Formats: sequence, structure tokens, C-alpha cells
Amino acid sequence: MKSFRIGLLGFGTVGSGVYRILEAQRAQICARLSEQTGTRIDLSIKRIFVRDINKYDESVRSLMTTDAQELIDDPEIDLICELIGGDTLALDLMHRALAADKHVVTANKMAIFTCQNSLADMARKKGKAFRYEASVMGVVPIIRVLKESLASDEVLELCAIINGSTNFILTKISEGASYEQAMEIAQQLGYLEADPSSDVDGYDAMYKLGILTQLSTGHFPSSTEIHRVGIGTITAEQIESARALGQKIKLVARLQRTDDRLLLSVQPEALTSEHPLYAIDGSLNAAALTMRYAGKLFLSGAGAGSYETATAVLGDILSIAAQG
Ligand code: HSE
Repeated sequence: MKSFRIGLLGFGTVGSGVYRILEAQRAQICARLSEQTGTRIDLSIKRIFVRDINKYDESVRSLMTTDAQELIDDPEIDLICELIGGDTLALDLMHRALAADKHVVTANKMAIFTCQNSLADMARKKGKAFRYEASVMGVVPIIRVLKESLASDEVLELCAIINGSTNFILTKISEGASYEQAMEIAQQLGYLEADPSSDVDGYDAMYKLGILTQLSTGHFPSSTEIHRVGIGTITAEQIESARALGQKIKLVARLQRTDDRLLLSVQPEALTSEHPLYAIDGSLNAAALTMRYAGKLFLSGAGAGSYETATAVLGDILSIAAQG
């Protein structure tokens, strides 16, 4: 029997989702892993780093510590799952985890964008896995699709909704809610970042577009290469006027590639009913891809939310555990 131990950094919207899904599905997950590998695998969360243990339910407190280094120094922990968000502490801990020969899984688009290729490069040097499927489009496996399924092809164009909270807010306003009401519900549902201006001002979508651009072209763009406009300038009147014309305003991320140029943008656009993203409402995300050889593809699913994002995190963890 082989054990595979996870050290979880953070117990917020996504971290608690990972814990709860594992609690509910652990027997089934271990059975599936054992079947795939031919070895009995016992997978579990060994320790959870949080800033304040008293905020949490008694049932999980025994696993918690306020010392993140304890997880990194623990020789029994195989994989560090970073779900604290932000770029300073999170980046430092992920680098330290790789240096200590741990695999790393994260949903942290901001940290990946900030460090560009440094975590991936370090993982390669250390011979460890670094995976981040949940960082873009929640449960939709777009990273796997670009990295594996479409690896022989070239992305010519990507047009996508990759921020769930702003899509949810715009949808709610078009249904009659005020901006404040829509923000409050998005917050309650765990769709917004700890700093909601990251969503509203288009930074979150910019980080994600940066990651998709790196996967599509090999080039990791800086923030100066992505034209970014948030939804802060959009008024309820503009949304209503668009509706009267049969259109919907959405925060759209675009990558367009010609022979000598790469155009990248995140900005509100008025979409007509013929547009593939027109029907993508609420916290749904979607991406319309145009490939050189494979033609057109459309991927869609929940882009934010606890269990939805946690499923993508667990997909990465299980795939690493299966490789041993
Ligand atoms: N705040 C993010 C969003 C969460 O609204 O899409 C998922 O990355």
C-alpha cells in the first residue's frame, strides 16, 4: 500500500471545497487510483495551513496549523496544494515547496501571471509536477485541452468569457438588480476575489488570458501587452439599451493571431444573439477556439464556485497521484 499525502494551503471557498469533496469521495477516489496504478493508494489531506484556526469548525481544526513551513518540511507530504490566493506569500510558498521536492497544484492565476514561467521552470528542473487547471475557467479543462488534446495544432483565435463574477453581475443587472445587489450576491456565492476590484477592473480575466496565451503561443505576455478595460464603466442604461437592440454586454477576452501579430484584449463587448458567447449567462465561462487544423471548438462550464473549482484542483491532484 502506498500513501499519497496532501498539504493544503488555505481553507477558503476552493480549499474547503477540496476538503469536502475528498471527504465525501475518498473511498471511491482511492479505489479508482488503485485500479489505475495497480497499487493500493491511500490519498488524504495531512495538514492544512490557515491564518486563524479559530475561524473554522472543530471537525477540521485538528488538521490545521498556522505555520506553513511545517507542511513544506514534512517528509510525508508529497504534494502542496496552494489555495490561499494573492501573489506574495503564495508564490513564496510554492517556490519553497518545489525546492523541498514536493509537487505543486494551484488555482492561483495571479501568482502564475506574476511569476510568468518561473514555477513551471523550477518544477521541470526539480522533476516535480506543477499543475494549475483550476486557475482558468474553473471546472472547464481548457488547460489540458490546449496542452494535450490540441498539442499538435495552433490556436488562431480565442474569444472567451473567463471571469465568472463579472458575467454573473452583468447578467443580474440585465435582469433588474442594482450593481450593489448583484455584487453582494456574487460575494455570497464565493465568485469574487478577496479584492473584488481584480474581477471588476478586468485583472482576473487578464491573468487568465495571459496563461491561455502562454499555452497557445509559447509567449507569456506582460500586462502591457493586454488591452484591459473592466466593467466599472458599464451603466444599467447601457445594458438596457443593448437589450432593446437584442444584444448583451459581456466582458470578453480575445486572442487573435495573424502571421506577424498577436492581439490580446479584455473588455466589455455588446454581443448579438448569433455570437457563440451570447447565451453564456450567470457565472458560466466559455471559450470559442479557432484552430489552424482542428477548426472550431466551443468549451463551456462553471467558471467559479467552491465545488466546481475544487473538482478541477482534485483532477490535477489525482493525475499526479496516479503517476506516482
Ligand atoms: N473571481 C474569479 C471569477 C473566480 O469571477 O472568475 C474564479 O477564477
